[in-house]
Amino acid sequence: MRAWMLPAGSDGFEKLYMEDLPDPEPGPGEVLIAPKAWSINYRDFAVASGHYFGGALQAPAIPLSDGAGVVLAVGEGVTSVKPGDRVQGSFFLDWIDGPHTMGRALGDGHGPGMLAEKVVLPAQAVVKMADSLDFSQAACLPCAGVTAWNALTRGRPVKAGDKVLVLGTGGVSMIALQLAKAMGAEVIATSSSDEKLGRVKDLGADHTINYKETPQWGAAVKEQFGGADKIVEVGGTGTLGQSIAALANEGEIALIGVLSQGEPPSPHGLMMTGGSIRGIFVGSVQMAKDLNAFVDRHKIEPPIGGRYAFDQAPKAYAHGWGADSFGKTVIEM
Ligand SMILES: NC(=O)c1ccc[n+]([C@@H]2O[C@H](COP(=O)([O-])OP(=O)(O)OC[C@H]3O[C@@H](n4cnc5c(N)ncnc54)[C@H](OP(=O)(O)O)[C@@H]3O)[C@@H](O)[C@H]2O)c1
Repeated sequence: MRAWMLPAGSDGFEKLYMEDLPDPEPGPGEVLIAPKAWSINYRDFAVASGHYFGGALQAPAIPLSDGAGVVLAVGEGVTSVKPGDRVQGSFFLDWIDGPHTMGRALGDGHGPGMLAEKVVLPAQAVVKMADSLDFSQAACLPCAGVTAWNALTRGRPVKAGDKVLVLGTGGVSMIALQLAKAMGAEVIATSSSDEKLGRVKDLGADHTINYKETPQWGAAVKEQFGGADKIVEVGGTGTLGQSIAALANEGEIALIGVLSQGEPPSPHGLMMTGGSIRGIFVGSVQMAKDLNAFVDRHKIEPPIGGRYAFDQAPKAYAHGWGADSFGKTVIEM
């Protein structure tokens, strides 16, 4: 089978190379999958450049956490899926349900990655994809989708009528926008680009703010809309101060991303609103199952801003990294 690999010590996605590897076989409790589509997350750039947890890759590794495809075979004892089933991998292999559990994660350079023609996963980390989705759409969910789902449904769960603020037009934020709309929320979205804000409106955003033209967008959210009950915080230290300023009384910041740098802000603003900050690290297998059921019920189609063939994987990375990217960038077999 063919697989894309990153070399030991990789310092960027430009180092991706294709390799022919022996076909993997599923052992007891394992599932052999033929991925048909993959999606790229911000994390994948960090893994490729040696800046993810654990630093530079110590050995060559197959990248990417997110893929969807068809079950080819199952190992002894596997009854949860069968050959022919349409499935996704789960970002975390061992966090099945319940409270946050760190553990093995797909595509981190230490264990299995998805960007290959065949992948073996433990059956517990194989999730049946929503019937309503094609493989490319389903490949958008394991990291960005589950993260957005965790952000919106845990801690202070979003309810109809809530105001939800999503930052920028990346994968997590655009899926969060779609999910929040389906939950009956009023969504405020920010972007550096007026052109992208037009596309955000098409996806259902009720209000938009250009964060370059309105650097004090936190105060703007508070003054114009009374503050946000839930904030999908993908910016990190560079945006957290504005997010605290944007919070409605007893609202929650779902702390997710590291897209921007800055001095950590004073948390004292939280005392004025009774607000809270909750850390998010993707989510469990059960969250992935719940998300697929919700997506199926509401016929949500994750927004795909770029499509590339399997042999163009480095071009897909370049697009996802570039200023023109919107929502998810996918690779298709
Ligand atoms: N904790 C977790 O479990 C978890 C899970 C998934 C992702 N993440 C993190 O969440 C972040 C987003 O991930 P992603 O995959 O959605 O990224 P992505 O698709 O690469 O998002 C890129 C977009 O982010 C927006 N952006 C960049 N700087 C921004 C800023 N200062 N303020 C607001 N928006 C900004 C830009 O939107 P515009 O072009 O519209 O301005 C850009 O197009 C990353 O830091 C990633 O590592 C964390």
